[in-house]
Amino acid sequence: MLKAQYDAEREELMLYIDLLGSIQNSIVRSYIRTLLGDGLKHIEYISKMMSDIEGASRSASLTSDGIKKSIFHERESREILQECFEIADEPEIKSILTSIIVDEDHHIKILEHMDQLIQSYSK
Ligand SMILES: [Fe+2]
Repeated sequence: MLKAQYDAEREELMLYIDLLGSIQNSIVRSYIRTLLGDGLKHIEYISKMMSDIEGASRSASLTSDGIKKSIFHERESREILQECFEIADEPEIKSILTSIIVDEDHHIKILEHMDQLIQSYSK
């Protein structure tokens, strides 16, 4: 039953993510962000319950290799965004792209730190 709820929450999150791109109204957008934030929380609670019941964690585990893959993907998106930035002419679009690139840099830093933590724990 928890697994079904987990999948349902996941489905909902995907739907909200897709909606976020198409909705202009700022109140509705902020509602959707709230739904997304709560959905993430619920997924955390449910997976915690699932691993408590089933013992060892059944969810995707955090490994140094996994993190390196994520870093690779983040770098890839950063490069694509950088290319978009270079061909964009509108200042507004350029500034949005810059803010996403800054976020991606931050994600890479976070992942690199997570990787260091994992490596130091596994020693
Ligand atoms: Fe990212």
